[in-house]
Amino acid sequence: MALVLGIETSCDETAAAVVEDARRILSNVVSSQAAVHAPYGGVVPELASRHHIENMGPVLEAAMAEAGTGFAGLEAVAVTQGPGLVGSLLVGVQVAKAIALVHRKPLVPVHHVAGHVEAAFLAHGEIPLPALALVVSGGHTSLYTVPEEGVYRLLGRTRDDAAGEAFDKVAKLLGLGYPGGPAIDRLSEGADDRAVDFTVARIKDGSADFSFSGIKTAVLLHVKREDIAPVADADAVPVRVRDLVASFQRAVVTALVRGLVKGAEAHRPASLIVTGGVAANTLLRREAERAARGLGLPVFIPPLALTSDNAAMIAAAGFVNLARGIRGDLGLNAEPHLPLG
Ligand code: KG4
Ligand code: ZN
Repeated sequence: MALVLGIETSCDETAAAVVEDARRILSNVVSSQAAVHAPYGGVVPELASRHHIENMGPVLEAAMAEAGTGFAGLEAVAVTQGPGLVGSLLVGVQVAKAIALVHRKPLVPVHHVAGHVEAAFLAHGEIPLPALALVVSGGHTSLYTVPEEGVYRLLGRTRDDAAGEAFDKVAKLLGLGYPGGPAIDRLSEGADDRAVDFTVARIKDGSADFSFSGIKTAVLLHVKREDIAPVADADAVPVRVRDLVASFQRAVVTALVRGLVKGAEAHRPASLIVTGGVAANTLLRREAERAARGLGLPVFIPPLALTSDNAAMIAAAGFVNLARGIRGDLGLNAEPHLPLG
């Protein structure tokens, strides 16, 4: 029985978790700063770092207490090294280094996006490989092949905005609050998603890349043309705004699923993975499952607690890196632009 402590502070969630033997979650504590950043319609880096410092202690204590272990009982400490906001990442990296130093435990750096992919393995156990993984979050929209656990080969990524970023920006424009994804998901339920004809541009050079800045601009132009005012009362959102966000959501999901299917046809994987914050989206989950049925492949989508940022996925990825001999030393630094694959 081996326990790994995971620490995640790359954006606006302060998280710590203990995972046993790569697959069993003993604790998974997440303190979201959404309420702190909501008035600004997006994450304010300065505020995020400050709140990570305040929240880290209690979050860590809760994760250890819930897991029923002390630091001495750990096999290793895994931490998100990047990518993310440098001031936020630094908090987690420094705390992980301190624990590793004081308790003489291996320090294991983890790539945040690898963590999102490992969330699927953590939740579903054995996944037929090679897998094709679509990682969709506020910071990333990337497609990877996963020939074996811990190996990620980048096939394509967004050339501009991440899909989650587009959700957040459209929500901000319409006064729907932050984060925008959950609000748009909820408001789209039962709305007419054919009301506005949005399309997401296809990348024409044959690559597997995505692009979401065009649809964001299309929404902005539509809002100006139709003279749509930001929503004043979150409990009484006008039908035309609900139809608008539903149409936007359908276009984004169509582009994501199209990329997934194209990747599957080109690379013939044994399974599909859809993960990251946007994988919480009701329509994306439904359409990814439908596409997988069409391809005759199993699709693995983590449960909601593991799609958005959390530290259990970092601990799970920590096991993989530990087995591959990846270690950090006390010189480990936060890497805001850390590449993967
Ligand atoms: O993975 P995550 O927690 O953080 C990053 O690594 O970026 O993803 C957060 C993103 C936000 O953009 C948020 O709006 C989006 O995930 N999101 C959703 C939903 N829930 C969260 N987007 C669409 N539908 C949802 N239900
Ligand atoms: Zn994330």
